[in-house]
Amino acid sequence: MKVLIVFTGKYGSSGMYANRLAEEFGDNSQAVDVKQAKKIDLEQWDGIIVGGGVYMGKTPRTLKSFLKKYVNALKSKKIGLFVCCASKAEDSQITEYFEKNFPSELVEKAVFKRVFPGGQVMNEKAGFVYKKMYDQMTKLSKEEIDELIRDSVKEFLN
Ligand SMILES: Cc1cc2nc3c(=O)[nH]c(=O)nc-3n(C[C@H](O)[C@H](O)[C@H](O)COP(=O)(O)O)c2cc1C
Repeated sequence: MKVLIVFTGKYGSSGMYANRLAEEFGDNSQAVDVKQAKKIDLEQWDGIIVGGGVYMGKTPRTLKSFLKKYVNALKSKKIGLFVCCASKAEDSQITEYFEKNFPSELVEKAVFKRVFPGGQVMNEKAGFVYKKMYDQMTKLSKEEIDELIRDSVKEFLN
C-alpha cells in the first residue's frame, strides 16, 4: 500500500517516526514535512497518515491549516493520525490532544490514533529549554522504535 505520511515537528522526533513509517510501508511510500505537502497530489495515495509534535498542548499551526484545507480529500482516504509528545499513551491528555488538534471527522474516521514518545532525536533547533526537557524524556531503544513502527503499520494495514 502506497502511504503518504505528512508530519510537522521542531526537534526531529516526529520526522524520524514519519520516515521510519514510510520505510516500513515500502511501495514508494513517502514522508513529507507539512510545508512540502501542498505540492503533493493527495489523490495518488492509498492511505495518508498525518501528525506531529505537541507543544503546550498544541500541534503547530501549519498542520492545522493543512488539515483544514484538505479535510475533504483526507476524509476520502484510509487515514491515520499521530502525535509525538512527552505524555504517555494512557494519559487523559492524549484524547484532548487529538480532539483539539485534528478535525472531528478525521478523529472519528482514523484507523489509528497513535502516540509516539517524543524526545528521541534532537536537531539543531534545540535551545536551552529543550535540551533540559530532552534529558528527562524516556529514550526508546532501536528495537522498541522498530517494534512501535511495525505495530503501527500492521494496525494501519488491517
Ligand atoms: C516548548 C515545549 C512544549 C511542550 N509541550 C508539551 C505538551 O504540552 N505535552 C506533551 O506531551 N509534550 C510536550 N512537549 C514535548 C514534545 O512534544 C516532544 O519534545 C516532541 O518530541 C516534540 O516533537 P518533535 O521532536 O518532532 O519536535 C513540549 C516540548 C517543548 C519544547
